[in-house]
Amino acid sequence: MMGDARPIGVFDSGVGGLTVLRALNARLPGESTLYLGDTARVPYGTKSPAVVTRYSLKNAAFLVDRDIKLLVVACNTATAAALPALEQGLAIPVIGVVAPGARAAAAAAPPSGRVAVVGTPATIKSGAYTHALRALRPDVEVVGRACPLFVPLAEEGWTDGEVPRLVAERYLGDLRGRVDALVLGCTHYPLLKDAISGVLGPGTRLVDSAEATAAEVAERLQSAGLLAPAGAVPHHGFNVTDVPDRFVEVGARFLGRGLPGAEQVDISFA
Ligand code: DGL
Repeated sequence: MMGDARPIGVFDSGVGGLTVLRALNARLPGESTLYLGDTARVPYGTKSPAVVTRYSLKNAAFLVDRDIKLLVVACNTATAAALPALEQGLAIPVIGVVAPGARAAAAAAPPSGRVAVVGTPATIKSGAYTHALRALRPDVEVVGRACPLFVPLAEEGWTDGEVPRLVAERYLGDLRGRVDALVLGCTHYPLLKDAISGVLGPGTRLVDSAEATAAEVAERLQSAGLLAPAGAVPHHGFNVTDVPDRFVEVGARFLGRGLPGAEQVDISFA
């Protein structure tokens, strides 16, 4: 049989990775996916690299046990902390969100331009985007900025109006008119695109890591001969490590459609 009908595994600390899954489903509608949100341990963005790496290896082991063909690390913080450990430990292809996002930003920046990267405190502290971007475009200046309050705002559904505008102004107001591109380096931030670009102005292009990652997954599956066979009926499974109620409710906004439900799983033995 040509092709590979096994699912693409996707993990995140919680609901945020559903923005990546949404981009993946749009780009690869014939592919099955299996999602794990580590809702018992969320947030990752304020934790140390060692702890995030430990959690990430557990998440990956759970998904690999369910016979995924490729792993997407749909969390910027987990990618920044744990991608090398995951690549080293797994026998399947592993794709994180940082390299595709950095490549898209490198393509968007003009010569000697300025790029801002926004993300969780852990992602910004890691310098992962800055290193990836500067390796591709040494002429570009990179400014990193942690915007932790964007995460609860997105989960609360406060994505337009006065509150997100004031928060975005406080974090990014000094960059208005001074950056050519801004990387949305956190799974939650695409929901706040309007508030962010309202503060930065029309001269700043927003780069969505989720879309860039989906494009990279499509290329990798194609080149490795791992695309699902034509006519395969895709299946989308959702797992969480705490009770699923809030994940299902909040997740619909991140996924852009209702979730069919989610199964609570214990990954301590994975
Ligand atoms: N998914 C995380 C990220 O993209 C944000 C939420 C968290 O802190 O766990 O960095």
